[in-house]
Amino acid sequence: MSSSPSGIGELLDRAPVIPVIVIKDSSVAVPLAAALVAGGLTVLEVTLRTSCALDAIERIAQEVPGAIVGAGTVLNPDDVRLSVKAGAQFLVSPGSTPRLLDSMLDSGAAPLPAAATASEVIGLMERGLDHGKFFPAKPAGGTAYLKGLSGPMPEFRFCPTGGIDLAGAPEFLALPNVACVGGSWITPDDAVAAGDWARIESLAREAAGLSRP
Ligand code: 3PG
Repeated sequence: MSSSPSGIGELLDRAPVIPVIVIKDSSVAVPLAAALVAGGLTVLEVTLRTSCALDAIERIAQEVPGAIVGAGTVLNPDDVRLSVKAGAQFLVSPGSTPRLLDSMLDSGAAPLPAAATASEVIGLMERGLDHGKFFPAKPAGGTAYLKGLSGPMPEFRFCPTGGIDLAGAPEFLALPNVACVGGSWITPDDAVAAGDWARIESLAREAAGLSRP
């Protein structure tokens, strides 16, 4: 896989949905990721919101064939460094600053920083990027806002995340400037706590079956 900035586009094209995963106990990381991969979702974002997130990324990277694991909620250069060391192949941040972008672009992992305004999109384009996360997608303006951004910047593609579920995903996926969507609905807390991997696999299969034009 390419680790150049443009490599992120190829990852986002692999499936219509990237599961955004909060892992509270790293012992569930491998069976959870395996269920998602079995359901057809191979690109997985593990958020750095829990103390075991890096351990979870490492376990998935080493033990789940077919999974492409990345780190989410990457906020600073330490997050970048530790995520890549754990095996993250891509990095997702909820915003973008010059310091964070410098670090992400130097990391060797595929970068997916966020942009929620035209100026932020231009800032990412100035760094040679042609993809970004759009966060928080629903509160920030949803599909109407993304349609507005596509007018002046049709080539820049987004992964909208935040407030999107199975029912809401199709209207985002129908937009030409949306590569895929991200969401946490595929890994509900109760199913993870119960170790109900069959349910997770079924939710993944449902999400993987969403169509993109
Ligand atoms: C996040 O960063 O939490 C993601 O955007 C997931 O949002 P969701 O829980 O609304 O899907």
